[in-house]
Amino acid sequence: MKLVFVLVSSLCLLSKADEISNRRFPDDFLIGVASASYQIEGAWNEDGKGENIWDRFTHDDPSRIADKSTGDIACDSYHLYKEDVALIKAVGLDFYRFSISWSRILPTGYADSVNIAGVNYYKNLIKELKDNGIEPMPALYHWDLPQPLQEIGGWLNETIVDIFADYAKLCYQLFGDDIKTWITINEPKQVCLAGYEGGGFAPGIVSPGVGVYNCAYNLIKAHAKAFHIYDEEFRPKQNGRISMIIDAVWYEPGSDSDADKEAAERDVIFLFGLYADPIFKGNWPQVVIDRIAMRSKGEGLEKSRLPEFTPEEQTYIAGTADFLALNHYTTHMVNASTVEPEFGGPSFGKDINVIEWDLDNWETAGAGWFKIVPWGFRKLLVWLYNYYQTEIFVTENGLSDFNGTMTDDHRITFLQTYLTALLQAIYEDGVNVTGYTYWSIIDDWEWTGGFTSKMGFYAVDFNSTERTRTPRKSADYFTNVMKTRCLVDSCV
Ligand code: BGC
Repeated sequence: MKLVFVLVSSLCLLSKADEISNRRFPDDFLIGVASASYQIEGAWNEDGKGENIWDRFTHDDPSRIADKSTGDIACDSYHLYKEDVALIKAVGLDFYRFSISWSRILPTGYADSVNIAGVNYYKNLIKELKDNGIEPMPALYHWDLPQPLQEIGGWLNETIVDIFADYAKLCYQLFGDDIKTWITINEPKQVCLAGYEGGGFAPGIVSPGVGVYNCAYNLIKAHAKAFHIYDEEFRPKQNGRISMIIDAVWYEPGSDSDADKEAAERDVIFLFGLYADPIFKGNWPQVVIDRIAMRSKGEGLEKSRLPEFTPEEQTYIAGTADFLALNHYTTHMVNASTVEPEFGGPSFGKDINVIEWDLDNWETAGAGWFKIVPWGFRKLLVWLYNYYQTEIFVTENGLSDFNGTMTDDHRITFLQTYLTALLQAIYEDGVNVTGYTYWSIIDDWEWTGGFTSKMGFYAVDFNSTERTRTPRKSADYFTNVMKTRCLVDSCV
């Protein structure tokens, strides 16, 4: 019975979102594209760049990557960045979110010796963007930690807080006069959960129920320190804004029972609130504190596996984001689990203790995890706005497919339905969303998906040494969206 209810209500929501909005984006709404250094730059050991954890992870064991590829050359954007900027300009986009490769600037990770060639690469990229009327939006960290810092424990070693802050300060000094929006760290969940719980991502550490929380603890403090340095030493002159990007899946209750509703919310809070609550509210979410304390006790531990922020740390961390920067791709259904998992080896999954599943009629064009559920995006925006009461800037959203077809009508439909959900959140639900970022302008190297997952408005020929870029149908569609600021042929 419950399942029938869920199917019917979700289908209703789907068909509602399928009506493409004919509202225009607000005048000051910003639209851009995003990329990350390891995924596009290549030149992994050129001009003095140091080794990072993704270089090591892919070189050590190619079988970790779907097609056994590496980012050694990727899109070769280190050499072809002017072409990338030209494509961004051709589509008419407002801004370009890219990331700075820490080890290209500081080969050892420490601010002791600066690699001038690396600095010049980003200076040139920023100049090229500005000369073409595109706002640069750099992230300091998109997962590519310098390998020497991993040798001392990476995000598990609390000295990373000061080391990251030194790197951040250097970047503000070098580039900050040209930057209006800084991102400290992209998607801490992937850094900590994928990197230090299950080890599916670099650095490949398997430390269930422990690594993820220690990583989160140090990472949040590193972000906060980088924020304060900007706020106190640079903002008065450079006048920019700064935030950390957090990614969120929408978790839809599998029924209207209180238990399922509570489980779905717990999932959002464990996966998003773990990082966002300290920054926006001052501490870990209470449900996270309580569940990990209870499980730790059951495991016979004297102290919770979740490190505690001192009152001074809480005050220092609270308010260290000028807006909520959100990456969003997909939705899952959630039911409450009826049993508490047995105590024994800890894990993040046991700490949350929910059952996730997907509806059979949800479509996907590429990787199985990636279900196309536009109404989940709208619900997420509404939930986040109610919960955090702050401006939301969507810093990533996009469609992956495996065939890379040039006539990518499914990507156009994806954009229309997801952006309709966003416009509905703005105009019908009153959510303060101020920007949208498509991932990505060009196909790139998609982490453990290698080159199998295609996401670009432009296809990249990874078999040619020129890495030729060719527009897909979606590039034309989006060029028109940028001209009209509207998703359909005529807008109100
Ligand atoms: C990451 C990107 C990635 C994208 C698509 C996001 O989680 O920030 O680096 O390419 O997802 O898979």
